[in-house]
Amino acid sequence: MLSELEQIEKNALAALNSTQDEAGLMEWHVAHLGRSAPIMRVFDKLGQLAKEERPMIGKRANEVKRALEAAEAERNGVLHQAALSRALQSERLDVTLPGRPVQHGRLHPSTQTLRKVYRIFAEMGFQVYRSRDVETDEYNFQLLNFPPHHPAREMQDSFYIAGDHAEDNALLLRTHTSPGQIRSMREYAATDPKNPPPVRIILPGMCYRYEQITARSEIQFNQVEGLAVGKGITFCDLKGTLSDFARRMYGAHVQIRFRAGHFPFTEPSAEMDIECFVCGGVGCPVCKRTGWLEILGCGMVHPIVLQNGGYDPRQYSGYAFGMGTERITMLAHRIEDIRNFWANDMRFLQQF
Ligand code: PHE
Repeated sequence: MLSELEQIEKNALAALNSTQDEAGLMEWHVAHLGRSAPIMRVFDKLGQLAKEERPMIGKRANEVKRALEAAEAERNGVLHQAALSRALQSERLDVTLPGRPVQHGRLHPSTQTLRKVYRIFAEMGFQVYRSRDVETDEYNFQLLNFPPHHPAREMQDSFYIAGDHAEDNALLLRTHTSPGQIRSMREYAATDPKNPPPVRIILPGMCYRYEQITARSEIQFNQVEGLAVGKGITFCDLKGTLSDFARRMYGAHVQIRFRAGHFPFTEPSAEMDIECFVCGGVGCPVCKRTGWLEILGCGMVHPIVLQNGGYDPRQYSGYAFGMGTERITMLAHRIEDIRNFWANDMRFLQQF
């Protein structure tokens, strides 16, 4: 019996040494320490042994079993370590290799200009109001006091989506951000129709015109509209706000001028120019030799427009302005072709 135990131990240890991985070790465990393993059968047979033999054989069997368990634990450690170092080998890193360059994203030049404009007007207390891109003829034109046969209402100039143009509910892509004036005023006025609250907002967004695409005109472009409505607002407020905007946008020493202009929805109307920053006012091709660059259109909100927005023109007044931000960006970066903005050419976009 004792020599049988020696043999069992020897066989088991030999088999253990040839296990190579976790699965092999599991199989070994079943074969050598499992319920029907040879060592277990020795325990089963202890009862049949002579009384005086039993303690000695029992003790030895226990020793063998514990030795096998200990050897198993050790083998497990060895195999685990080997697996780890194999993994380390195969996942080896060369930390001296140069890193891969990280590609930096960047904001579209139009977005950069828009954000600068938002920031400047935010500092002056203007909130951003987002109006819709798809408008009705009524909001885009009629409520803004466009006369029925105004050329802007013709099919050649606007993208009509549905309905006959000049019908109230014909749908079109907004040709300017001004319809947002009516939408915002009506929303403000609805909060207290008898005593509507003052409005001080900018309305940014994409505008669309059905035009020949050239270096100077695109079928889509961004505008930022501004609107302030309240009691006692005058043209002085308009001039002061826009002069301050120009100084914050272009620098404290920029020269500006207002020229009379015409828009159906403002009266009086004006256009604001800034001194050409390419030639400093002397005259060059960028400013068409005038020394001035046109930046925006503006004026006092027309009484009919105030009324359409739910504000009584006898009590309220206001000013509005609208600027094309691609134009501002083109001037600032001397971009010569507006088609670059939507061409998605990385060589252009990466410059900003
Ligand atoms: N909507 C005008 C345009 O597209 C700009 C403008 C806005 C003028 C507000 C006056 C007041 O040219």
